[in-house]
Amino acid sequence: MPSLTDVRFAELVQDIACDVHSKTQDDDNILKVQEISRAFVSDTLTVPTKEMNAYALRASLGDDVYFEPSTALLESHIAKITGKEAGLFLPTGTILHIQSSQMHGPTYTGRFTCRLRNMFPTFASMEAGGAAFHSGANSIPIIPANEHHLTWEDIEPRIVSGTDVHVAPTHIIALENTLNGTIIPQDDVIEISKNAHSRGIIMHLDGARIWHVAAETGLSMKELCDPFESASLCLSKGLGAPIGTVLVGSAPFITKARWFRKLFGGGMRQTGYLAGCAAYALTYNFPMLPRVHALAKRMQQGLEQLGVGILSPAETCMLFYDPSPIGVEYWEVVERAAQLPDPIKLNGSRLLMHIQTSPQAIEDFLELLRTLKEEKAAAGWKPENAPPKKKTLFRDVYVKAVRPT
Ligand SMILES: Cc1ncc(COP(=O)(O)O)c(C=O)c1O
Repeated sequence: MPSLTDVRFAELVQDIACDVHSKTQDDDNILKVQEISRAFVSDTLTVPTKEMNAYALRASLGDDVYFEPSTALLESHIAKITGKEAGLFLPTGTILHIQSSQMHGPTYTGRFTCRLRNMFPTFASMEAGGAAFHSGANSIPIIPANEHHLTWEDIEPRIVSGTDVHVAPTHIIALENTLNGTIIPQDDVIEISKNAHSRGIIMHLDGARIWHVAAETGLSMKELCDPFESASLCLSKGLGAPIGTVLVGSAPFITKARWFRKLFGGGMRQTGYLAGCAAYALTYNFPMLPRVHALAKRMQQGLEQLGVGILSPAETCMLFYDPSPIGVEYWEVVERAAQLPDPIKLNGSRLLMHIQTSPQAIEDFLELLRTLKEEKAAAGWKPENAPPKKKTLFRDVYVKAVRPT
């Protein structure tokens, strides 16, 4: 083999080198922060601040598949505050759900298959159907009769037990709290859990935004997680960390989860920086949630004053609205919001506030709806023209803005 010349190696180095910074990166980033302060699309858009980065960069440098000290501290801290034995840091809530459905599953025809009766839309209908794809989990969503939250009365008739080979026995009840930003009353969670446990059914919590429940109700994380064998808590949503979800549960469950994390390709390496961001988010961003909830409530109040419909109320950080009672369609709002001198980003019925939301964006959004309402009225639209008030099914609050073709 001919020996590599310095010239050839220099060429290789040049080919392989990469610069991901744009020519105006610092300015772009300032604009990005401004943009997300005016985006009601998702709380996953939040970005790490200089302060978060400075704290996180001092975290330990281990490889998390072996042992990463800062990550281990984060895991044990979250386990402690939720009253569980152990915790596991995962890259996303999606991989966590897939894992949970696998790990809680009974050994069934020789492999881990879970027959899951699932009570929340994210697991059942979102995340690209990952739980069903990877785990063969048969999840069955249940719509609450009261259109707000599940009660044992909703669940009991759907429980499958016994020895009938035609049906998949109920194995897990999974609740999402908050769900669409709304809070399940803790008494109902406890009642569901007591009844489930008396029948040998496992309880799992999708607590992606359980922080918001604690901030709004004053209940401790332990009280909120006690009714469940396992819980997932996202750090990358309302708390504003860039990446991460922590799964908590019993020590044997988490040992097994660590195995499955590797199997699913979720074993990450130098996660200390990410654990540092998460710790910063717990310490400095969690206290910002009451302000976020107040912004969402201000949004709801302003919309109601304009006569805009509310599909799901602002109990925490988000609400779902319906502009049809003032003669306006979602796509019109989205397009006009994008054309404002200081644009606002939306994508449909969900309006989500986060720790980097600008209060001015809310006032500008309300002003835009006021303008649209006046324009419609000037063009002859009358409240009598409004479509009959929709009975919004619980699952139908997510409406995407689509311009008719
Ligand atoms: C309630 C809930 N659970 C789980 C997930 C999935 O989390 P991830 O986006 O980290 O995969 C989401 C995503 O937004 C969510 O809203």
